[in-house]
Amino acid sequence: MAAFYDSRIGFDQCILLVVMSIFCCVCVHGSDPPLTLDYYKEKCPNVLEIVRNEMECAVLSDPRNAALILRLHFHDCFVQGCDGSVLLDDTITLQGEKNAPNNKNSLKGFRTIDRIKNILESECPGIVSCADILTVAARDAVVLVGGPFWEVPLGRKDSKTAGYELSNTNLPTADDGLLSIISKFIYQGLSVTDMVALSGAHTIGLARCVNFRERIYGDFPITSAMNSASETYLKNLKSICPPGIGEDNKESAMDYVTPNLFDNSYYQVLLRGEGLLNSDQELYSSILGVETKKIVQKYAENPIAFFEQFSESMVKLGNITNPETYVDGEVRKNCRFANT
Ligand code: HEM
Ligand SMILES: *[C@@H]1O[C@H](CO)[C@@H](O)[C@H](O)[C@H]1NC(C)=O
Repeated sequence: MAAFYDSRIGFDQCILLVVMSIFCCVCVHGSDPPLTLDYYKEKCPNVLEIVRNEMECAVLSDPRNAALILRLHFHDCFVQGCDGSVLLDDTITLQGEKNAPNNKNSLKGFRTIDRIKNILESECPGIVSCADILTVAARDAVVLVGGPFWEVPLGRKDSKTAGYELSNTNLPTADDGLLSIISKFIYQGLSVTDMVALSGAHTIGLARCVNFRERIYGDFPITSAMNSASETYLKNLKSICPPGIGEDNKESAMDYVTPNLFDNSYYQVLLRGEGLLNSDQELYSSILGVETKKIVQKYAENPIAFFEQFSESMVKLGNITNPETYVDGEVRKNCRFANT
C-alpha cells in the first residue's frame, strides 16, 4: 500500500480517472507507486555505479556525509513524499523547506547531491530525478558505514513545489513525546516497528546542543544507571552543551560508542538509558512504550533482525509518494530549482 500525503481528488481528475478506467481498466488511485528496480536500465545504465562512486568519495573524506545524506532523504520523504522537495532553494516565488525550523542550521549534504546530479546530467541529461538520486545515495551511505544493502525501487519524479508548512507539522522533533512520533509515522503509512527500526539511523551522525540540552539537564540521570561510565558521559555532554543559552550548534554523537559505524549500538545505548535525544530514550523508557521497548530490546540483542527490518522499512520510506507528483512532476536539471 502506498501512503498518500493527500488523497483527495478534484472533479476534473475524477472525470479523467473514469475515462481512463473505461479505456484501460487502470485504477491509479490506491495502487502502489510505479517504481521499479530496473527503471534506468535502458535510459541510464550507469546510474547506480555513478552514485556509488561519488558517495564513496564523500564518505571516505568524511563519514559524517553518510549521516547527512540519510537524514536528507528522510526529511524529503516526510514532506510531500519522496520528491526532492527538500533540495529546493528559496526563490521569489517558492518558499523552500531548508529554512523551516526543523531543518534550518541542521540539514546539510546538498553539495554532495549537486555533485552527483552534475555528473548524471552529463552522462544522461534529463533522465535521473533528484528524488531518486537522494534515495540511492541514502542506501549507499548506509552500506558505506557498515550497514545493510537493499535494492532501491526507482522512477520517482521531482516536485515543482516545496512544503514549508508541512515541514513544521510532519517532521518529528527531539522533544516530541512517543505518541506524537508514532502518529507522525502512522500518518505516512509507517508502523511502530518501522519507526523503531528507522530510528536506528541515529546510530550514525550528530545532534546539536539545542536538541539535547533539556534532556541532559533533565531526566538523563533518571533513565541512566549513573554508573561511573554514564556519569563521565553526562559530564562530557554538559561541557559541550552549557545550561541556559549559548553553544546551541555544538554537536555530539547520538551513538557515542560507535558514532561512525552503522550497527545496533544505538539500541544498546538506549538500554543503558543513555539516549542523547529525549525522543530516542522515549522508545525505551516511556511508560507508554511497552511495544517499542520490546522492539528496542530485540534490535539491541540481534543486529541481523535490525538490519533486515531497517532495509524493509527504508524501502517503505522511499515508497512514500504524493500521487500528484506523478502527474505533475518532472526531472529537474538542477536539484535546487524547478525547471523553468
Ligand atoms: C523517530 C523520530 C526522529 C526524530 C525525533 C529525529 C530527530 C533528530 C534530531 C533532533 C536530530 C539532530 C539534528 C540537529 O541537532 O541538527 C537528528 C539527526 C539525525 N537523524 Fe533523526 N529523527 C528521527 C528519525 C530519523 C529517521 C527515520 C532517520 C533516517 C532514516 C533519521 C536520521 C538522522 C540522522 C542520520 C541524523 C544525523 C544527521 C547529522 O549528522 O547531521 N532520523 N534526528
Ligand atoms: C515499494 O514499492 C514497490 C513498487 O513501487 C513494491 O513492489 C514494493 O513491494 C514496496 N515495498 C514496500 C516494503 O512497501
